Amino acid sequence: MKRTLYITACLLSGAALLIATPAARAATVDVEAAKTLFDDNECSKCHSVDKTKKGPSLKKIAQKYKGKADAEAALLKHLKSGAKVKLEDGSQEDHKIIEAKDEGQIKNLIHWMLSL
Ligand code: HEC
Repeated sequence: MKRTLYITACLLSGAALLIATPAARAATVDVEAAKTLFDDNECSKCHSVDKTKKGPSLKKIAQKYKGKADAEAALLKHLKSGAKVKLEDGSQEDHKIIEAKDEGQIKNLIHWMLSL
């Protein structure tokens, strides 16, 4: 009886771990790495966390994408494609294409921006 209980407990905690892992992973953002990538790419010339500069604040961007399932994909495309954007002063230029070691690094930055 004791043994059955033990085995059941092990199975249950294993299942709980399996269920918890993807959510926990999605929520983990390496904030320092995100800020470093942001600064290294001089994104801060045009964006700040809560002030509008030449581009919208990161909080405003996070708000725009809140609850949208395709947020990550849309922002990944934005950061890699260099589409034309309109600056606050009305002029237009190609958006900066991000330079990163790999896509995981860019996704980490996106998750940080969306968490603000
Ligand atoms: C020369 C100024 C400038 C620089 C440098 C710049 N951005 Fe932007 N960015 C803009 C402007 C302007 C917009 C607004 C585009 C719009 O709403 O049309 C924008 C939009 C964005 C958006 C929102 C896109 C959307 O779909 O709403 C994100 C995210 C973003 N920038 C991230 C970054 C990151 C990360 C960097 C650094 C790699 C960066 N930007 C560098 C000017 C800049």
